[in-house]
Amino acid sequence: MNRKHQSRTIPIILILLAAAMLIVAYWTTLPQVRDVEYIEGELDLPQPVTLGTVSIEEALSKRSSIRDYTDQPLTLKEVSQLLWAAQGITRPEWGGRTAPSAGGTYPLEVYIVVANRGVEDLAPGIYRYIPQRHTLLLVEPGDKTSDLAVAALDQDWVATARINIVIAAVFERTTERYGERGIRYVYMEAGHADQNIYLQAAALDLGTVVIGAFHDEQVQRLLDLPEEQKPLYIAPVGHPL
Ligand SMILES: Cc1cc2nc3c(=O)[nH]c(=O)nc-3n(C[C@H](O)[C@H](O)[C@H](O)COP(=O)(O)O)c2cc1C
Repeated sequence: MNRKHQSRTIPIILILLAAAMLIVAYWTTLPQVRDVEYIEGELDLPQPVTLGTVSIEEALSKRSSIRDYTDQPLTLKEVSQLLWAAQGITRPEWGGRTAPSAGGTYPLEVYIVVANRGVEDLAPGIYRYIPQRHTLLLVEPGDKTSDLAVAALDQDWVATARINIVIAAVFERTTERYGERGIRYVYMEAGHADQNIYLQAAALDLGTVVIGAFHDEQVQRLLDLPEEQKPLYIAPVGHPL
């Protein structure tokens, strides 16, 4: 190789090396899909609709807290849509969801407390939502709605809702990466998820309100949440009266 040729080849190799290092660095910063082992008995939810008939502007204009509901059950399709709005996976390649998450750490876990005649084709009980497969997992059978209402300072809308969506969080998933600042990120994320529920409910002509006032330990016990999961929000849902 002559000198002229060599002087061109070395910078090209260096540029290629730098590009390869940048690509590797980029991939290692992407969040990884958290595997959730399949558990026997998971119930498939209907596929969520990703192209609806209500514009985002209309849903935003309609959104308000609704606390009075009829006793008309929800459909499984509506439940599927609400859960997908809260935490559904929209980027299967890397696990991205409908709500943003600091560093893609995804600290939120979503549950539903289903009342008697709360949802067509779904027995009353407490269920955990598994975003990775868009399924429900039964945690505890039976209608626990009135116990949840007691834990939520007897707020009537919890007692009369057809379902109550409970958002819990594992703070360590986020604080492991961000330290103490991660705590505020988790609260922010719960807000994002619940706003999605509000907007999806508005688009489906359903009513919801976000509940922050409840006894943490009572909700934790009622839902049989693992020690590391802390309840942050309750969102009753029903057809507006
Ligand atoms: C963090 C937070 C906690 C809330 N907690 C409760 C609650 O415990 N009970 C309730 O009825 N509403 C609760 N709300 C709903 C507010 O009362 C409601 O958003 C407010 O009155 C504004 O009405 P709008 O949502 O219709 O705009 C809460 C809202 C937020 C953001």
